[in-house]
Amino acid sequence: MKINKVPYRTIWVKPGDPATIQVIDQRHLPHQLVIENLADLDQTARAIREMHVRGAPLIGVAAAYGVYLALRNAPKDSALDHYLRNEIQKLRESRPTAINLEWAIQTQLKAIESAGSIEQKIKIAFETAGRLADEDVKTCEKIGEHGLTLIERIAGQKKNEPVNILTHCNAGWLACVDWGTATASIYKAFDKGIQIHVWVDETRPRNQGASLTAWELLQHGVPHTVIADNTGGHLMQRGLVDLVLVGTDRTAVTGDVTNKIGTYLKALAAKDNQIPFYAAVPSTSIDWNVQNAFRDIPIEERNPDEVRYAEGWCEGEIKKVLLLPKDSPAKNYAFDVTPAKLVSGLITERGICQANQESILALFPEKRANLLAMGKK
Ligand code: MRU
Repeated sequence: MKINKVPYRTIWVKPGDPATIQVIDQRHLPHQLVIENLADLDQTARAIREMHVRGAPLIGVAAAYGVYLALRNAPKDSALDHYLRNEIQKLRESRPTAINLEWAIQTQLKAIESAGSIEQKIKIAFETAGRLADEDVKTCEKIGEHGLTLIERIAGQKKNEPVNILTHCNAGWLACVDWGTATASIYKAFDKGIQIHVWVDETRPRNQGASLTAWELLQHGVPHTVIADNTGGHLMQRGLVDLVLVGTDRTAVTGDVTNKIGTYLKALAAKDNQIPFYAAVPSTSIDWNVQNAFRDIPIEERNPDEVRYAEGWCEGEIKKVLLLPKDSPAKNYAFDVTPAKLVSGLITERGICQANQESILALFPEKRANLLAMGKK
């Protein structure tokens, strides 16, 4: 996607310097475009933990580059396995909910396992991280093409009025390498000349909707309106939402969708108002091992200060202001689980399916063997 008409990805190798990975530091958006250099695993883990980079697919690709950087910086005199295990643990502890993180680590470990020398491992890890980045772009574009069919169908029923899409958090290109998951269909529809308008949930406490989704849509010229998080139900009751489209950090193979806190409430309101609720789900965000999302998917709890304070642009810099009585306690659950029964469908790179195990496995039959091996099917 483009920033001021210049094409960007969210993560790339610094031109002429393969020892440095560059990312857009999203903490500064929408006010400033800041590019950050990552030179080792510690910097990468910190960038993930402190949300310089965020969004499940981007967390995965950043972690893959983190493993590459760890190998590059491996001390010559220590046992590689022990060193790598400790380094990777730092990535694992950075953010627990998005399954893409573990998926990327496992993909890297498998890719390098048979390489004989450290030089070979570094080369393979570099190529693998690059491949995962490129695949993420293709996956998101495919999701966009499948989701477009949904928007086209609704547009066909709307008779020259815009299709109103409500989205939560940022499941946009900033959350991936490019395109986005939920936003890919929006960009495809807009580029095809379909009239659309996006309701953007601000998404407290970190405001990814207000600061990131709104900025992306603005850069692309997509009509949109930012709303306070509690507005969606009211809009749905008034017939002002045609489709709810969200992303996911981890969707269980049973079809239960874990996503940014507040997604569940949007799904409940959508059900009550007979509005289609779809999740855009790359296969890298499916947890093929989880049968009980409510029990087995870890829900990240972040620093309560993110609830206690709000951040914004003031006199040329980002400032933080206290919202609560200073002695009031706060809690900061980052995600919730929307049960499959509230989900109209999942938009994957292989097509749209129902939110249930049979339907998901029909699109990804090669995963059936995993479940059989685990004695789950
Ligand atoms: O806490 P974040 O900003 O990493 O949460 C991001 C989301 O919840 C997104 O909706 C999800 O990762 C899907 S991104 C394509």
